Amino acid sequence: MTASPILQALRSSTGDAHAALDRHIDFDARVRDPRRRRRLVGAFRRLHASTDRLFARALPTRLRPASRLTVLDQDLSDLAFDGDRPVDDLGATSAQALGWAYVIVGSSLGGHVLRRGLVSDGVDLTGLGFLDADSGVVGARWRALVAMLDAEAAAGRAPTTEVTAGAVAAFAYAHAVLIEPGSDATAAAA
Ligand code: HEM
Repeated sequence: MTASPILQALRSSTGDAHAALDRHIDFDARVRDPRRRRRLVGAFRRLHASTDRLFARALPTRLRPASRLTVLDQDLSDLAFDGDRPVDDLGATSAQALGWAYVIVGSSLGGHVLRRGLVSDGVDLTGLGFLDADSGVVGARWRALVAMLDAEAAAGRAPTTEVTAGAVAAFAYAHAVLIEPGSDATAAAA
């Protein structure tokens, strides 16, 4: 099926940022090291706590992505994480927040693929429940997100440039939070 204009615009404006995140996040090595896994999950918790707060401010309940925070908090206790749990104040208009929602709901597609790889490699999944937080409904939630974007665009509430600006900002924030401090990618971005 052909992607709708808003989805095509989101893909073309964020494709490079997604590829850069995938290259820099060093996921496979970090999940295989207990100390680095704990910090990686803490970083995902920060991303989701902050975007949940943004969605609560900028979007009506019916448009908000499902929260993964409860699962992430359980993951951190399973990992005996005792670090800080920061939440950032992020600003967005409601149209920009739709772009942020695209990034957050889309990340569960990648999470699903990553989890499948770990299972097939026999890696222990303690603390990685958030990769499967949408268990069984990943596809349905993705289709609902795409339908919601199309409906908001048709109603004139989702100007393309504003939605894509939100998605670009969301990838920049995800990059800043998820890349391991001190990695080459953070040095390059500084
Ligand atoms: C190691 C890290 C990552 C890998 C390997 C990865 C991989 C993937 C893959 C394979 C898909 C397509 C899934 C499918 O079609 O079934 C996907 C989709 C997506 N991922 Fe990632 N991902 C990663 C991290 C992230 C992160 C951290 C975010 C955002 C915070 C993200 C945002 C997205 C979005 C928005 C889509 C939907 C793209 C679209 O179809 O329009 N990904 N990812």
